[in-house]
Amino acid sequence: MRNIIIAGNWKMHKTQAESQEFLQHFKPLVEETNPGREVVLCAPFTALGTMSQSLHGSRIRLGAQNIHWEEQGAYTGEISGAMLWEMGVQYVVVGHSERRQYFGETNETANLRVIAAQKQGLIPILCVGETKAQRDAGETESVIIQQIQRGLVNVDQTQLVIAYEPIWAIGTGDTCEAQEANRVIGVIRALLSHPDVTIQYGGSVKPDNIDEIMAQPEIDGALVGGASLDPQGFARIVNYQ
Ligand code: 13P
Repeated sequence: MRNIIIAGNWKMHKTQAESQEFLQHFKPLVEETNPGREVVLCAPFTALGTMSQSLHGSRIRLGAQNIHWEEQGAYTGEISGAMLWEMGVQYVVVGHSERRQYFGETNETANLRVIAAQKQGLIPILCVGETKAQRDAGETESVIIQQIQRGLVNVDQTQLVIAYEPIWAIGTGDTCEAQEANRVIGVIRALLSHPDVTIQYGGSVKPDNIDEIMAQPEIDGALVGGASLDPQGFARIVNYQ
């Protein structure tokens, strides 16, 4: 059986104080949520410690947004699996398009990060997705196939989440049609050897489109950027119909 996972990716938003304020409002709104839905907040590194304390005993899981492949060493600005683990982190976003676009992440480095996360007992959320130019050129499938095949070399598919995030739909309000997202996620699923990998959709997920997205048979959850910053809005997404 595939798990349903709704995750917020806060990106570079929220100080410790702001994260506490969010949790104060958000926690009561998801207490009654169907226990079959995993709720994850992928916060900035600096908020992880305080959030971990506030989430003790809660059904909300903590996620991070990057992990280095080495256990330690001279890698200024990077973070190790053990550092995240100690903070109570259970999920980590890997290979997000913003890391690929602005920080030189490749399929190969994303692969190393996925493996490092699993080695530490963290669940990687591997992000894949095509640009607008690639979509317009009819390259969506070939780009996705490469990202998945290279990203998953030597990866244990039983401890893995994939997020399909078409880059042209991120932060633009231009959501991928639910049926089209469902189709591409079907393409991804056909490439996997394990039948129960959770595959999320991400890209302008909002309270007013989540119900349609989650009604699609191939879509097992959402990775939510902007709309996860507001406690009421994100609770509505978690509590989709
Ligand atoms: P938005 O929901 O703001 O479009 O961001 C999606 C995303 O990149 C989540 O990782």
